[in-house]
Amino acid sequence: MVTNNLPEHYNDIDKIYDEIWERLIDGKKNRNSELHQCYVATNSDKFPALRTVVLRHVSQENLSIGFHTDKRSNKINEILEDSNVSVLFYDHEHKIQIRINGQAEVNHNNDSTAAIWSNIRSFSKKCYLIEKAPGTQSEIPTSGYPPQFENILPSDAELEAGYENFTYINIQIESIEWLYLHKDGHRRALFNFTDNNINKQWITP
Ligand SMILES: Cc1cc2nc3c(=O)[nH]c(=O)nc-3n(C[C@H](O)[C@H](O)[C@H](O)COP(=O)(O)O)c2cc1C
Repeated sequence: MVTNNLPEHYNDIDKIYDEIWERLIDGKKNRNSELHQCYVATNSDKFPALRTVVLRHVSQENLSIGFHTDKRSNKINEILEDSNVSVLFYDHEHKIQIRINGQAEVNHNNDSTAAIWSNIRSFSKKCYLIEKAPGTQSEIPTSGYPPQFENILPSDAELEAGYENFTYINIQIESIEWLYLHKDGHRRALFNFTDNNINKQWITP
């Protein structure tokens, strides 16, 4: 609720914490939320590597978020080399930036991926049928799909081949930084997680 044009969380760090999880949970469920997408940064050879992904998992209890990807994509090797990742969200309408640091874990062909795969829509499963690894150079413009699947949705049996490429990246959160923009003064707060403790700290915006 907004009082005097200031949201209730403006000067209340506990409310900010609750707000973060509410917005992330809504971001996962609601494809119209500005937090449905996020930007994941990995450490790479020379430059940091950044990409947009869809937020697919949020757990306040386990302090984790996650996304789906292709096992053959560059980000997998980067995560296997260095599991430290940063994830950025920005909700333009509500003027909220959320920055998450954590440890990424690659899940492939295990109980987690089997459970997730069984709930993925066919349209999304098709992405995992591209023939060559994402990022492979091509002499021609390409979708990457095998010619027989170019403009159709493959059958359920055909889509199953994508499971081999399907990967779930789980991020164990170590810290969350909040930034709220307001004309009367911004607010910024940092939440650090250590051994079941949450350290809540205001910081200068
Ligand atoms: C709106 C949007 C959503 C995307 N969602 C995902 C996603 O959930 N998983 C994914 O692997 N790539 C997703 N992509 C593509 C990635 O941004 C990226 O191009 C691709 O994963 C290759 O990244 P990499 O070479 O750094 O591994 C998305 C792109 C856009 C624009």
